Amino acid sequence: MDRYCVFGNPIGHSKSPLIHRLFAEQTGQTLSYEALLAPLEDFSGCARAFFAEGLGANVTVPFKEEAFRLADTLSERGRRAGAVNTLKRLDDGRLLGDNTDGAGLVRDLTVNAGIELRGLRILLLGAGGAARGALAPLLAEQPACVVIANRTVAKAEQLAHEFADLGPVVASGFDWIDAPVDLIINATSASLAGELPPLAPSLIAPGQTLCYDMMYANTPTAFNRWAAAHGAARTLDGLGMLVEQAAEAFYLWRGVRPDSAPVLTELRRQLAAG
Ligand SMILES: NC(=O)c1ccc[n+]([C@@H]2O[C@H](COP(=O)([O-])OP(=O)(O)OC[C@H]3O[C@@H](n4cnc5c(N)ncnc54)[C@H](OP(=O)(O)O)[C@@H]3O)[C@@H](O)[C@H]2O)c1
Repeated sequence: MDRYCVFGNPIGHSKSPLIHRLFAEQTGQTLSYEALLAPLEDFSGCARAFFAEGLGANVTVPFKEEAFRLADTLSERGRRAGAVNTLKRLDDGRLLGDNTDGAGLVRDLTVNAGIELRGLRILLLGAGGAARGALAPLLAEQPACVVIANRTVAKAEQLAHEFADLGPVVASGFDWIDAPVDLIINATSASLAGELPPLAPSLIAPGQTLCYDMMYANTPTAFNRWAAAHGAARTLDGLGMLVEQAAEAFYLWRGVRPDSAPVLTELRRQLAAG
């Protein structure tokens, strides 16, 4: 049986095995996909042992940078992201590293939510791995500009510098900005702790500004509650991004693109049921 897995630590609550099982059933592909807890001090040993026979792996927190270093060759978006969430064993045994997170975000925004990104003023909150992975796919959609705002401004400045060749991107602190934008994407991990970056409510033009939190939960996140309270036109969470990044990985491994819509519907149903 063709073997795939997701590595993380912790990994117990990963939805990836369910998502890939549903993709495999839907596309008639025969494969196994399991969640593997990699030890914090030996991700690469664990990954190498798996790839003695395994064909592909997803990689989640905290191993994406280590997976980037482990890969023998990188996709352009993996290289740009500096982090790898998908590994594929090539026919010659080398490991290809890719990053499908940003493509998943853009597909969720454009296909699932029907948002045209071209010409939008986008505010990207955070400058960690998720923001880094999102930048190249976002800039490829030709927004009017992307402002990266981060608590540690130097990290936002570093990202803006690295991606400046791909489009109009600038760095900011949270309290430097207050003019309304078209789309705010929360790529900070603040929501995980129920916290919120210190943002000016005037960033939201009531009835116009769209807000997207990469995090998801069975109730609206702190960021999406803040956005709704200040009149955001729509609030979206990251469950669709999760399914779409998985679909992109599945396509890389199997050469078949699954239909993500019914899988997202099923995950949404399970999330709501608790
Ligand atoms: N839906 C999906 O498929 C998907 C995929 C990937 C990630 N995500 C989500 O994206 C989020 C970020 O993940 P990541 O991997 O980028 O994490 P990360 O690399 O650890 O980066 C965390 C970022 O959040 C900022 N931050 C943390 N706590 C904050 C607070 N209380 N106030 C303001 N800023 C704060 C950090 O700022 P400093 O630089 O100042 O520390 C940094 O920019 C997480 O919620 C994760 O679940 C979702």
